[in-house]
Amino acid sequence: MLFDNYLLNALPLANRIVMPPMTRSRAGAGDVATDMMADYYAQRASAGLIISEGTQISQQGQGYAWTPGMYSEVQIAGWKKVTDAVHQAGGKIFAQLWHVGRVSHTVLQPNGAAPVSSSAIQADGVKVFVDVEGRGPENGVGAMIQHDMPRALRTDEIPDIVNDYAQAARNAIAAGFDGIELHGANGYLINQFIDSQANLRDDQYGGSLHNRLRFMTEVVTAVSAAIGKERVGIRLAPLTTLMGSRDDTPEATYLAAASVLNALGIAYIHIAEADWEDAPVMPAAFKEALRIIFHGTLIYSGKYTKARAEEALAKGWADLIGFGRPFIANPDLPYRLQHDLPLNMPVKEQFFGGGKAGYIDYPPAQK
Ligand SMILES: Cc1cc2nc3c(=O)[nH]c(=O)nc-3n(C[C@H](O)[C@H](O)[C@H](O)COP(=O)(O)O)c2cc1C
Repeated sequence: MLFDNYLLNALPLANRIVMPPMTRSRAGAGDVATDMMADYYAQRASAGLIISEGTQISQQGQGYAWTPGMYSEVQIAGWKKVTDAVHQAGGKIFAQLWHVGRVSHTVLQPNGAAPVSSSAIQADGVKVFVDVEGRGPENGVGAMIQHDMPRALRTDEIPDIVNDYAQAARNAIAAGFDGIELHGANGYLINQFIDSQANLRDDQYGGSLHNRLRFMTEVVTAVSAAIGKERVGIRLAPLTTLMGSRDDTPEATYLAAASVLNALGIAYIHIAEADWEDAPVMPAAFKEALRIIFHGTLIYSGKYTKARAEEALAKGWADLIGFGRPFIANPDLPYRLQHDLPLNMPVKEQFFGGGKAGYIDYPPAQK
């Protein structure tokens, strides 16, 4: 089943294998996608669907050094080279759009401002990666520093951020992407509104579950109006606790979110079951409930092997399966999986920043 065609609404995919979003921190000056990034994605175009690395909708939405943006003309032109290369190689590609919210630092923010969030609670867990010396990714001069304390967004500032998402979605389509994935997972801004322990607001964006889902609902509605709901997906992480985003009743919260998303009629929900080592077991009953509530496409990612992927498809709770780290190290992953060939191992030290090494030099299998 993994190697069968799939129709994502009108978009034909060659197989059920997804390359999930993976930040590699190699954008050039102005946070513009480079020719090397075009090579990297084109090498992996045999995935049924590629989802780009997290791409900020505004400078305020940036949380790490050398991540690409989707808010300036040069950034659109940079991405155009990537989407052209992927399409020429026969692939399909969505852009993952993120605003990281509190997972940032004043050195990355416009005018050195404090990062913003639903509430003034500092992100925990992993630290931000910043370019302290301004020397660019090839030199690999980055540092890990603590996230800064965010300030809570005023109610009247929220519509501007919703508009930034809609504009970034239009820009992504102008750049040639087949669609966009909103990053609603892994402790970033949308997640900071959804999860009960990250959102302490008392306006219409906080308090009740309905209110905590309002920001996501407004963003999904705005990007759907901008580019068409059939080109919109969202990533959610119900059970991981990355960056300190925790919900007291994740099953109730995320089944309610799925119900809202079903009514909005978007193309897919992409469940992040793992982000590296943070990989709680997601009960089968939860997955079955998601399937009943949401009628669009369901993608799952997190520590999948060929066998687990085939099982997920056969059991019927997934339509597409993401393989993250295996895709970093194996540009021809679908071919290798299909022929049960050994996999290259990814080199962790080369995940973020740097040049070609550990990026576009992983060898394909001999054909
Ligand atoms: C280097 C690296 C960068 C990542 N960056 C992102 C990202 O930008 N957005 C996102 O939603 N997930 C990101 N993830 C999570 C992956 O999409 C995926 O969920 C995770 O790697 C688990 O899948 P795997 O076990 O197949 O690797 C990243 C993972 C890795 C390894």
